[in-house]
Amino acid sequence: MRLDIVSIFPDYLAPLSLSLPGKAIESGLVDLRVHDLRRWTHDRHRTVDDTPYGGGAGMVMKPEPWGEALDELVPDAPVPDAPVPDAPVPAQLGRDDELQGNQAPDDRSQDDRALVGAPRLLVMTPSGRPFTQALAGELALERHLVIACGRYEGIDARVVEHARARMRVDEISIGDYVLNGGEAAALVITEAFVRLIPGVIGNPESLAEESHSAGHDGLLEYPVYTKPPSWRGLQVPDILFSGHHGEIARWRREQAVEKTRARRPDLLPAELREIIVGEATSS
Ligand code: ADE
Repeated sequence: MRLDIVSIFPDYLAPLSLSLPGKAIESGLVDLRVHDLRRWTHDRHRTVDDTPYGGGAGMVMKPEPWGEALDELVPDAPVPDAPVPDAPVPAQLGRDDELQGNQAPDDRSQDDRALVGAPRLLVMTPSGRPFTQALAGELALERHLVIACGRYEGIDARVVEHARARMRVDEISIGDYVLNGGEAAALVITEAFVRLIPGVIGNPESLAEESHSAGHDGLLEYPVYTKPPSWRGLQVPDILFSGHHGEIARWRREQAVEKTRARRPDLLPAELREIIVGEATSS
């Protein structure tokens, strides 16, 4: 995968050379290129922002540097016709309500389908669609991603409007809070999708069981324990020493359901949610 990240603080992305993303880069699975947006400015002050039309506080990122950056990083090229996974749902993909039920997995618009295989632009913004494990799984299969890190009050809206004609564009939020810029969000999503790129994690089975993965019904992960069996007066649950794989699997599932019910009832699969309604009405 080629991954371009554009920011006015490229040093902020330095941690990507550590740990897992670092290994993926070293092994050649990810070709990471971090760019300073100011490279595409032409004035003495290398200006990237200006006051908002219509008034209001703060500054807005100018469209010209972003336009030139995207022109260079994603030159107008015919959409590649190499096979592109047809809306794949590998085991490690998380639950995504858009892909639930009988809905055809490929519900992209005609325009989006024409751009399949084209580079994908991810714009980090608190007003974007929520980032999910399902989206991470999707991004892990892309050939070319460009991540745009906005600052200030955001990027002039025409940049996304213009880009949509040439590439697939997602505006993405990592949560309902406002950061000073998109760099930290870019670090978060990159860590989430790089580990899902086939070949990056040695044992792919470990991906299927973790919280938010489809292999686990979207439930939060059950509690885990290791040696010693007794620590500061706290015991590892007996069931885990029993050697009964079926019983252990059942216990873990119960634990996962209870944890999810307590912390994130919104994540419970529909059949378990009904139980909550039943409980609420019978009490
Ligand atoms: N930029 C500022 N806040 C953000 C958020 N919550 N998610 C993504 N990008 C952002």
